[in-house]
Amino acid sequence: MANFPTKRLRRLRYNPTVRDLVRETILTKNDLIYPLFVVPGEKIKNEIRSMPGVFQMSIDILVEECKEVEKLSIPAIILFGIPDHKDEVGSGAYDPNGIIQQAVRAIKKAVKKLLVITDVCLCEYTSHGHCGVLNGEKILNDETVELLVKESISHAEAGADIIAPSDMMDGRIGAIRKALDEKGFIEIPILSYAVKYSSSFYGPFRDAVESAPAFGDRRSHQMDIANGSEALREAESDIEEGADIIMVKPAGAYLDIIWRVKEKFGMPTAAYQVSGEYAMIKAAGRNNWIDEESVMIESLTAIKRAGADMILTYFAKDIAKYLDKYK
Ligand code: PBG
Repeated sequence: MANFPTKRLRRLRYNPTVRDLVRETILTKNDLIYPLFVVPGEKIKNEIRSMPGVFQMSIDILVEECKEVEKLSIPAIILFGIPDHKDEVGSGAYDPNGIIQQAVRAIKKAVKKLLVITDVCLCEYTSHGHCGVLNGEKILNDETVELLVKESISHAEAGADIIAPSDMMDGRIGAIRKALDEKGFIEIPILSYAVKYSSSFYGPFRDAVESAPAFGDRRSHQMDIANGSEALREAESDIEEGADIIMVKPAGAYLDIIWRVKEKFGMPTAAYQVSGEYAMIKAAGRNNWIDEESVMIESLTAIKRAGADMILTYFAKDIAKYLDKYK
């Protein structure tokens, strides 16, 4: 018994009740934001090929979905729109009668508590699938910001609770904040996609909103996947410009970035478990190569442990149901 251990870390692991007592990170429904995709038409519920369990929905179906989401006590949804026509300047994005604006009005009429967050970007609305107005193959920053401001105001006027710009143009947070304030929307927070990488994990999302760029990629505005310190500069400038919540995206492969942003700024921090992260877990689960439910919980717990205060996830309903079952 010479080297008998005096430290026995296993003492707090033998018994499940003790394990519950010392658990550091607990997922709750209050952490969840559920992404939803809305399309024109009626009675439409199209499953997205690369995202089993996720649907493009027409407004009538979407409203029913929102009632269910509210009943599950999920606090918020984020809306993405697929317009009936796309053009060079993404005019569907800031049309007062556009798909998102109509959807927000219908949802706000039907549910009371659920927060409606709207994604602000042009890529779903442009014929070329890029996030802004083009000059040749170049995305024009300041001209795009003007349109993002119009888009944000039209979302606020429709009744959106939180505005979430995902475009990564420079200066858009300041411009949107100023315009919201001038229009009297001083109480509407901005959730900024501040740290958004140019990631291949977005692949399935581009199926969902039919927004794959017609040429090139998004590397002239989204961040290089290899950079960490730059994430802090991105977060800092959005905070200075008035962002209320900072987002890191994707989540699972960027836990170090979530941690650094949370540690450095202490801001409310969101993380987006994106379409490709969801698709991989779903696909492997369906093949019985992994246990889908436990990997879902592990992936979300890791994101929260890294410092995320809230998580955008396509698993929101599944995890809410799981929490109901085991509480
Ligand atoms: C842009 C936007 C994207 C996602 C959210 N907002 C796609 C992109 O930048 O190409 C990706 C979300 C996901 O992959 O789940 N409007």
